[in-house]
Amino acid sequence: MGGSSLLFSVVLLVLVVVLSSGEAREPFACDPKDGNTKKMGFCKVSLTIGERVNDLIGRLRMEEKVRLLVNNAAAVPRIGIKGYEWWSEALHGVSNVGPGTKFTPPFPAATSFPQVITTVASFNLSLWEAIGRVVSDEARAMYNGGTAGLTYWSPNVNIFRDPRWGRGQETPGEDPVLAGRYAASYVRGLQGTDANRLKVAACCKHFTAYDLDNWNGVDRFHFNAQVSKQDIEDTFDVPFRMCVNEGKVASVMCSYNQVNGVPTCADPNLLKKTIRAQWHLHGYIVSDCDSVGVFYSNQHYTSTPEEAAADAIKAGLDLDCGPFLAVHTQDAVKKGLLSEADVNGALVNTLTVQMRLGMFDGEPSAHPYGNLGPKDVCTPAHQNLALEAATQGIVLLKNNGPVLPLSTHRHRTVAVIGPNSNATVTMIGNYAGIACGYTSPLQGIGRYAQVIHRVGCENVACGNENQFGPAINAARQADATVLVMGLDQSIEAETVDRVGLFLPGRQQDLVSKVAAASKGPTILVLMSGGPVDVTFAKNDPRVVGIFWAGYPGQAGGAAIADLLFGKANPGGKLPVTWYPHEYLTKLPMTNMGMRARKKAGYPGRTYRFYNGPVVYPFGHGLTYTHFVHTLASAPTVVSVPLNGHRHGHANVTNFSNRAIRVTHARCGKLFITLQVDVKNVGSRDATHTLLVFSVPPPGGAQWALEKQLVAFEKVHVPANAQQRVRVNIHVCKLLSVVDTSGIRRIPMGQHSLHIADVLQHSVSLQAAALGIIKS
Ligand SMILES: *[C@@H]1O[C@H](CO)[C@@H](O)[C@H](O)[C@H]1NC(C)=O
Ligand SMILES: *[C@@H]1O[C@H](CO)[C@@H](O)[C@H](O)[C@H]1NC(C)=O
Ligand SMILES: *[C@@H]1O[C@H](CO)[C@@H](O)[C@H](O)[C@H]1NC(C)=O
Ligand SMILES: *[C@@H]1O[C@H](CO)[C@@H](O)[C@H](O)[C@H]1NC(C)=O
Repeated sequence: MGGSSLLFSVVLLVLVVVLSSGEAREPFACDPKDGNTKKMGFCKVSLTIGERVNDLIGRLRMEEKVRLLVNNAAAVPRIGIKGYEWWSEALHGVSNVGPGTKFTPPFPAATSFPQVITTVASFNLSLWEAIGRVVSDEARAMYNGGTAGLTYWSPNVNIFRDPRWGRGQETPGEDPVLAGRYAASYVRGLQGTDANRLKVAACCKHFTAYDLDNWNGVDRFHFNAQVSKQDIEDTFDVPFRMCVNEGKVASVMCSYNQVNGVPTCADPNLLKKTIRAQWHLHGYIVSDCDSVGVFYSNQHYTSTPEEAAADAIKAGLDLDCGPFLAVHTQDAVKKGLLSEADVNGALVNTLTVQMRLGMFDGEPSAHPYGNLGPKDVCTPAHQNLALEAATQGIVLLKNNGPVLPLSTHRHRTVAVIGPNSNATVTMIGNYAGIACGYTSPLQGIGRYAQVIHRVGCENVACGNENQFGPAINAARQADATVLVMGLDQSIEAETVDRVGLFLPGRQQDLVSKVAAASKGPTILVLMSGGPVDVTFAKNDPRVVGIFWAGYPGQAGGAAIADLLFGKANPGGKLPVTWYPHEYLTKLPMTNMGMRARKKAGYPGRTYRFYNGPVVYPFGHGLTYTHFVHTLASAPTVVSVPLNGHRHGHANVTNFSNRAIRVTHARCGKLFITLQVDVKNVGSRDATHTLLVFSVPPPGGAQWALEKQLVAFEKVHVPANAQQRVRVNIHVCKLLSVVDTSGIRRIPMGQHSLHIADVLQHSVSLQAAALGIIKS
């Protein structure tokens, strides 16, 4: 939140008092006991939602309307409508970061899943949707009990563009297609699939090109992101478009920053034209908290507050997180900067979502989810899914020997060392709630072995070596040593970007000294959202194993222990590139460019555009077994039918070395299907994550693309068994590239598919125009 006002605080206070009782919720509106409102059109469930919304807007006065444009929407008592707090959060579990949700009895806690960056590393669509379903069960239960809202400003789907970003932990990583699939799956889980009966309303944020918080004197409230059309189209917009088109999300949030000189919340090209007209958002657009106030007061984008209010609403903003629009919109209308019809347009979008949530259907217990209550929160099944998510998301980066998994027979005593060795709240990262309970790494490992616990460093900052001695002694005695190191919210967080990629303070020294002294094998477990340059440990033969646990959620310690001792088999893959620290020297965080500019010494960003040295690449992740892949079938030539209307009149053009606009191709059912046999030749049943990348035909200097992820498939293969995996690749969506004007095109010619790092296959795309199929 940037600014604040008396109005905002007063309404908030009233809200807290009303909600803290934790009793069953009164109807929000249209109380069946209220004979007056029962007969009003907006309360009649027999009418369409559109008719009900119009009826309601027709009854509202201007001063009432403007007070519905903000997150703490005011009550309209004369027609039986209560106040509503729109701001709740559920990034990876119901959270109390927004004022709409409180943990009070009988809802003292909620299931706390791993931070998103960890969950994404599972590459498992059905897991993401299952988590969304559990979170929305718990959210609905808490709403029914009067302690939470129904509008959740989650997920965060910004691309993790720069490894220093403090909020990278909240995101689904650096790949646009991965991020978009995550967004669509999680949103489906949260909202359910009945468009007219939303379970809860999700929100994809922060639109767009927002991925800098506070770096080198530049903060998000003042940053003007200079972004090319090419990068917008093939990187920054992709997860949002997929969230709207495939996830059918009920809301999008615009960000604090400017894009090419215009605040995103005041840009009609971004809001009205892109999100609403092109993508057909069925829902509302909300500002980040006090974005409108920020572009007026901090960015001085308009000279009066009324102009700021008018610009935002005319650009397509429907709801302000913050008081600004409630305070200034009526004056903007009086001054003629905005019409009442513009205000009505915003209300149509917010009220429609409230209707779809059932908020105007009277008695909340009559809703399909009206019977969810305290018994549905923190259930054993829900907590088990939190463990499952951590187990699937944790990534095995190194396993020399292989020494891992540890054995309960040979490794009876384990030295558990490090500032994160007994972590609890650190494991749930930011935008969390109050967890049902925790299993710390120390407790988890204690289930398998006798532990000798020494912190080594008091905290992750690890400013001195005072406690190294006892840690080194513990490692000398134990059969194995596990160091749980890394970061926490003091190093990377909202408003805190990192300055470097190394482990903080003396952590590296602690790892090296302990490893050198250890009697048994030493395993390093890293907790972090962003990547860490652990080249020293990768190269240290004494550190035989490395796990990246991300922020693994309430059950993180149990998952770490299950993986260490082989109860579970690691199958996670890195959703971001792990760069060496030196990478940063050529890369101001403020430079938004995705593509490398070799002559200027600019290395490019993410595995799609950067081909320099890495500590660990995007997609890296080992397992305890071994898989052999064979390509069972794949096409070698695929013709791309062109749109007859444009190319029908006769001219025999040679398309074979051109890149055709996606809008000129008949994309509908144009898929490439691969069949890959995956054989588990090891002795353990295991889950395998098959990644397929494509490399466009040579000579595409314009796209400057190294490769891109086109498919990921998750498959369970028992020991010594084989599974056939079918991979469908949508040609227009996935094999297309974007030119420097921001136009998406399909290059004709040889596309190379890289399957699971071991197989390569070429497919030739050939344009088929004028009924002539060249093949
Ligand atoms: C994906 O996750 C779901 C939910 O935990 C699980 O049931 C399923 O087995 C996972 N898929 C694979 C292939 O492991
Ligand atoms: C581990 O953390 C828990 C919870 O914070 C605490 O109760 C316990 O004493 C800690 N254990 C050790 C050995 O520090
Ligand atoms: C056909 O295309 C070629 C090459 O683009 C062009 O030179 C020629 O003028 C075109 N002919 C007609 C009839 O449009
Ligand atoms: C089309 O262009 C390609 C590459 O320049 C060439 O190999 C091919 O022979 C051409 N085909 C026709 C029909 O002109």
